[in-house]
Amino acid sequence: MIDIHSHFLFGLDDGARTIEESLAMLHMAAERGTTAIVATPHADLEYHYDPAAIAERLGKLKEAVNGAIELHSGCDFHLSYENIQDALENPRKYTINKKNYLLVEFSDLLIFRNTQEIFAHLAAAGMTPVITHPERNALLRQRIDEIEAWVGSGATVQVTAQSLTGGFGRRAQEFSRQLLDRNLVHFIASDGHDCEHRPPRMDLAHAWLTENYGESVAKALCVINPGAAVAGEPLEPVILGVDRSTRRWYQFWR
Ligand SMILES: [Fe+2]
Repeated sequence: MIDIHSHFLFGLDDGARTIEESLAMLHMAAERGTTAIVATPHADLEYHYDPAAIAERLGKLKEAVNGAIELHSGCDFHLSYENIQDALENPRKYTINKKNYLLVEFSDLLIFRNTQEIFAHLAAAGMTPVITHPERNALLRQRIDEIEAWVGSGATVQVTAQSLTGGFGRRAQEFSRQLLDRNLVHFIASDGHDCEHRPPRMDLAHAWLTENYGESVAKALCVINPGAAVAGEPLEPVILGVDRSTRRWYQFWR
């Protein structure tokens, strides 16, 4: 599996604090079946995004894990006016593996009325927005039709692994199901912050998806789509037909 959202880089945000914690998270991820993981430190009012520090720490960790898991850079990009301006001027500064997918985290307090327009500007500059964990945002949970419209215009959606299995509460779990039922989920990612409470694990979500939506959906959301994001390749909508384990029709993205 490939995890496109994780806070394993030490000392940069509210994720890992020390290099030992970073390594513990990376080994946990690898042991639970993650083969590649993207470091996505926050860029928001609280945490300054520093590409040089990220490169330096990634280098150290790559050496230390010695091939046990592949590491890439990225950003947990808060959707603020300043961040948007900076990303438009530096389109590869914040994206996953310096390609074209950009994680975007909405504020819990306000959804820009011109979000569609903001996404269009990002797309024109070569960035595909990846809306992070809408199921954990009370405002976005009221706006599934808008999410559908954004997806219709080329945005993508990432749901947190732990949301599927109930780790973020009943509302987040139910909304994750609604998104899945409407083919509005493209990626599952851990958004891991530590080894205890928010672990960098994809395996439990993969098992939950296999049980509830079938093996091919689990594979698309945990392996194929995140792999395409790391490679900077487009996601193509495909109809795979009836899933043998659930006997349901699925259209999703690969
Ligand atoms: Fe995050």
